[in-house]
Amino acid sequence: MIRPMPDFREKPVLAGESVVLRPVIADDAVDMLEVLADGDVLRLTGSHGTLSPDDLEPMREWYGSRAEHQDRLDLAVVDRATNQYVGEVVLNELDANNNSCSFRIALGARGQDRGFGTEATRLVLRYAFERVGLHRISLEVYAFNPRARRVYEKVGFKAEGVLRDALLWEGERFDAHVMSILAPEWQDHHGHPEIPVQKSSPAH
Ligand SMILES: CC(C)(COP(=O)(O)OP(=O)(O)OC[C@H]1O[C@@H](n2cnc3c(N)ncnc32)[C@H](O)[C@@H]1OP(=O)(O)O)[C@@H](O)C(=O)NCCC(=O)NCCS
Repeated sequence: MIRPMPDFREKPVLAGESVVLRPVIADDAVDMLEVLADGDVLRLTGSHGTLSPDDLEPMREWYGSRAEHQDRLDLAVVDRATNQYVGEVVLNELDANNNSCSFRIALGARGQDRGFGTEATRLVLRYAFERVGLHRISLEVYAFNPRARRVYEKVGFKAEGVLRDALLWEGERFDAHVMSILAPEWQDHHGHPEIPVQKSSPAH
């Protein structure tokens, strides 16, 4: 039987305990500009160049048009308690023939270190594996970002290799680490690899 090709035509709302992920909208451009005004976020995401108020209109256009794209899923991360936008999570580079895609996340300072990144990552992985039917999700994380690496390991991403000198930042070169998680791994632990899988005891 030929399985249907996976795609991101559905733009879901994914609710967790602390965050809600919802499809991005044009107005998110203002908040994302604020997130990207933080030099730390630029460095941690390897975002070159500087943004100015002139970038607002093109960014509004970008965020307002994501719903039209079936090969990627761009979700805003919203703090449930305040309904405030804190960042975004993206599944992109969909390779439908191989059931795989890439993942990235960026939270602004007000959303960091509160468990939001961990929860948002688990929510989007669950959607990708259990609803879209993907097999493999991969990411890149710079060697100088142990917090992100910790989050990725916590939810079950495994290190695959190193892209040497992948980033040139302020005259210095840094490695990027490639990580991935596969559908059978997700089915084993559902984003909690630290919890041992309960093996049923053999029937007597
Ligand atoms: C990376 C990011 C998604 C993490 O999300 P977050 O909500 O801040 O992280 P959480 O609170 O869910 O979890 C952070 C974990 O890292 C740990 N941590 C924090 N700083 C750390 C450090 N310097 N070294 C190692 N671990 C660290 C925390 O203790 C926590 O682990 P624990 O739950 O076992 O205690 C978010 O901080 C972010 O978007 N940062 C800016 C952009 C960025 O780095 N994007 C990722 C690019 S690959």
